[in-house]
Amino acid sequence: MRGLFITVEGPEGAGKTTQTNLLGEWLQSQGADVLYTREPGDGCIGAQIRQIILNPNNCALTAKAEAILYAADRAQHVEQVLLPALAAGKVVLCDRYVDSHIAYQGYGRGIDLAFLKDLNQMATGGLMPALTLLLRLSPEVGLERVIKHRDKDRIELEEIEFHKRLSAGYDAIAKANPKRFYVVDAAKPIIEVREQIISAVGGLLLQAGYEVNLNMEED
Ligand SMILES: Nc1ncnc2c1ncn2[C@@H]1O[C@H](COP(=O)(O)OP(=O)(O)OP(=O)(O)O)[C@@H](O)[C@H]1O
Ligand SMILES: [Mg+2]
Repeated sequence: MRGLFITVEGPEGAGKTTQTNLLGEWLQSQGADVLYTREPGDGCIGAQIRQIILNPNNCALTAKAEAILYAADRAQHVEQVLLPALAAGKVVLCDRYVDSHIAYQGYGRGIDLAFLKDLNQMATGGLMPALTLLLRLSPEVGLERVIKHRDKDRIELEEIEFHKRLSAGYDAIAKANPKRFYVVDAAKPIIEVREQIISAVGGLLLQAGYEVNLNMEED
């Protein structure tokens, strides 16, 4: 397969990691060379930036500084990880990318959307995914899923209104980019969400001339 860039988006606990792994397994079964990655924090520079962003002790971090840190992480990630993998023909599955930035820092924190757009243009050089899967889930349900398994990080500790604003932001971004986005109801059982995602990704691959088997049965 040729290089293909897919991002997975959604609020905390929507199932991004779960579904990225399931999609990756399916893509591998179709012969793809898959690279799993995520933002923030892939690679050793990114891991240090991620620590600053998510550390609950960093309550003095300003919204603008936070937005720029995310962009620094992304610039590093694009150049060091994403572009080389795509050039090598991998299918790159990235857990969070530019749309998280717009939803969380723009709609959630109220940072100017035009500023974020410019920042992302600089960080990515214009690299955007062919497909973005948006796992849509109410913040209450998502946060409930997350706290069952671990302590909340600095972002998860935000008030529920913040999470509602960013969820509405995701909807607005998806509406403005209907060709790039595929929206899934992430409240459905894991297996149903998986099937919808595989249909969407399979459709994209078929359109692009790849040979894929869309039979959902496990081998
Ligand atoms: N469709 C689903 N229904 C019920 N539980 C789910 C579903 N999808 C995922 N989960 C569970 O919810 C929890 C969070 O899932 P996961 O870590 O995949 O979400 P995430 O979007 O990656 O979260 P985070 O934003 O924290 O990275 C896990 O325990 C997972 O097993
Ligand atoms: Mg995750």
